[in-house]
Amino acid sequence: MLYTYFSSRLRELGYISLHIGRETPDLQKLAVKMLVKGYGIVEERREGIVVKESDGIKLLKSKGSEKSDCIYRKGGKNIIPDPPQYPKVVVDLGLFNALDEEEKKKTITQLFMTLNVVRKFWWDGNMVVVGDMKVGKAVTTSSFKSDAPTIVLDPYGDVEADEKIIRGADVFILGGIVDKGRRLKFATSELARKRGYDYPRVKIKLRGSTVGVPDEFNKIAEVVLRVKEGEGLEDAVISVMSKADKVARILHDVNLRGVEVLPEEFKWLKADDKVVNMVKSKLNKL
Ligand SMILES: C[S@@+](CC[C@H](N)C(=O)[O-])C[C@H]1O[C@@H](n2cnc3c(N)ncnc32)[C@H](O)[C@@H]1O
Repeated sequence: MLYTYFSSRLRELGYISLHIGRETPDLQKLAVKMLVKGYGIVEERREGIVVKESDGIKLLKSKGSEKSDCIYRKGGKNIIPDPPQYPKVVVDLGLFNALDEEEKKKTITQLFMTLNVVRKFWWDGNMVVVGDMKVGKAVTTSSFKSDAPTIVLDPYGDVEADEKIIRGADVFILGGIVDKGRRLKFATSELARKRGYDYPRVKIKLRGSTVGVPDEFNKIAEVVLRVKEGEGLEDAVISVMSKADKVARILHDVNLRGVEVLPEEFKWLKADDKVVNMVKSKLNKL
């Protein structure tokens, strides 16, 4: 994650405490704002109180008896001038014109949600948009090619994802596609063919099925970035599933294997009370 570069640069410079004024005490958010909005570090001591200690750095706010080694503010120095280029999340909008108006709106919303996902782990420089849309400071380009290990995330891909495949890739190409009711079957495969993406097309499954795996591209981006950070693939998928995704998966499994699987399903899918009640009420209506 980007914040580890921020904290190690601070330590390298001999700073172990930072006065952050009114900012949120979160090293990742501070690092992103430094790269995106021209904030940074000024060597100036300021009194405050420690509100958080993270990664060996004390974050101070307000007034208090502790003195910081430096402060964080607009116009300060960017201390990560050369942040890592990888991992890179590429969203390709090559099928945008095949979408209806509502799908286009949702695609744009998901594009901005993808930027927020990337910023949770890295920053805008780790995102590329292929198409005609500006999103934060992500690179916008009309075509994309990569020499780094790359995969295309495709629900109909011929390779099944596992942690090794995801962690072995540096670049993740996603289709910037929202298709209501999955009406555009094989859309990602078509996009890859149209663009000439000659990279493995990888599908994410959950215990052998794509049922319940969220199909929003911002959520798939979050899954791969979580796995890159060391999380297990199954845990990463479950953490981005909505309640409706969980209900759909549980009903699918009950349909295949009977109601006796319910307790185990609730457990492995980490179903909360709401999901349990939604499943029970759907089953009672059958
Ligand atoms: C709504 S999906 C597009 C679905 C479209 N019906 C298709 O057949 O490709 C949007 C994007 O999310 C990603 N995606 C969604 N589900 C996925 C899965 N199970 N495995 C891999 N990628 C997935 C892909 O990059 C895809 O282009």
